[in-house]
Amino acid sequence: MKYQILSNKWRPQSFNQIIGHKYIINILKNSLDLQRIHQSWLFSGMHGVGKTTIARILAKSLNCNNGITSQPCRICKNCISIEKGNFLDVIELDAASKTKVEDIKTILDSTKYPPITGRFKIYLIDEIHMLSKNSFNALLKILEEPPKYIKFILATTHVKKIPNTIISRCLHIHLSAITNKHISNYLNDKLKKENIHINKEILDLISNSAQGSIRDAINTLELIMCSNNNKLIKKKTINQLLGTFGKKKILLLAKNIITNNIDDTLKIIDDAEQQGIQYNNIVLSLITFFHHLSIVKIASSQKKYLTDKLSEYDKIIYTLSKKILFKDIQIYCKILIQGEKYIRYAPNPKIGIEIILFQIYQYIIDKHNI
Ligand SMILES: Nc1ncnc2c1ncn2[C@@H]1O[C@H](COP(=O)(O)OP(=O)(O)OP(=O)(O)O)[C@@H](O)[C@H]1O
Ligand SMILES: [Mg+2]
Ligand SMILES: [Zn+2]
Repeated sequence: MKYQILSNKWRPQSFNQIIGHKYIINILKNSLDLQRIHQSWLFSGMHGVGKTTIARILAKSLNCNNGITSQPCRICKNCISIEKGNFLDVIELDAASKTKVEDIKTILDSTKYPPITGRFKIYLIDEIHMLSKNSFNALLKILEEPPKYIKFILATTHVKKIPNTIISRCLHIHLSAITNKHISNYLNDKLKKENIHINKEILDLISNSAQGSIRDAINTLELIMCSNNNKLIKKKTINQLLGTFGKKKILLLAKNIITNNIDDTLKIIDDAEQQGIQYNNIVLSLITFFHHLSIVKIASSQKKYLTDKLSEYDKIIYTLSKKILFKDIQIYCKILIQGEKYIRYAPNPKIGIEIILFQIYQYIIDKHNI
């Protein structure tokens, strides 16, 4: 049986299947329909947000047999073979394995030859930031004035490592992280079509942990689907898989911090180690929690705030928000955000998180002159 991983199976094949990046997709579609075609594009952005996917759709749009179009037909010979990845005039290269100037020169030599069957010969170069200085220099000239039948589509996760001279010769398009809501709705739609039922709350957990990357979210989903053999998926299993504490545990931890209960705070940190929870995830969850607490504090200071309509969880948050000053929540957030690096640099992550918590504790002691 030939199994195709979900992220490949679900890879969008046309612009209207792309999630997020609304304005960018609009610009790309308009430029194709108006035939205002640049010679080179540079897509930047974090991993798994659609750089390669959009680059391939663009390559198809430029080479569809029905003409340059924002809606490639997907049934002509060119479209089919681009989708299969065997179209001779769309050349995909990974710059990470071709960093040397000799490699780039070989590629540049091949630009002398026009396309075989396509309208354009398109070089799709991934991880472009990995090129050496000499390789970038070798690319400059051709990027400035390539033969009419050549197009370059470059992609990178590290745009800051690319010389400005290269960037300014391309149409630079930055793809932002995808919002949690977009990812969660996307997973929900996809699963519905596959006839798989997974609770929306669980999809939200997956989306939050993906931090903007659709590929990461799909991969976590796949892991979860394999972990339980289609039986009911429990939130606890998901949290264990993601290495995070659930909502209730984070609430308990925050409560202990706010009420200055250092013994119980450290006990929760000890337990986390045994449960395989990642400490950086705890810090991120605490930041999110205190941010939410700030919002509840602001909202509840207004007359219109109706506590009887709150969920049980939000009622607890509301009660907790009365026990802390807004200013103090901001100081906790600041300590947590600035302290995140301790997890990386401390001798081990547990020491790192304990240092962060000691700093909050120190602030409380100083404040009350204990
Ligand atoms: N914007 C998007 N809309 C829909 N699906 C997406 C999107 N971005 C990514 N995906 C999904 O994630 C998979 C990987 O996307 P893609 O290869 O385009 O990411 P990338 O940005 O090139 O990542 P990398 O930097 O790791 O190369 C796709 O096959 C698709 O299933
Ligand atoms: Mg890619
Ligand atoms: Zn076509």
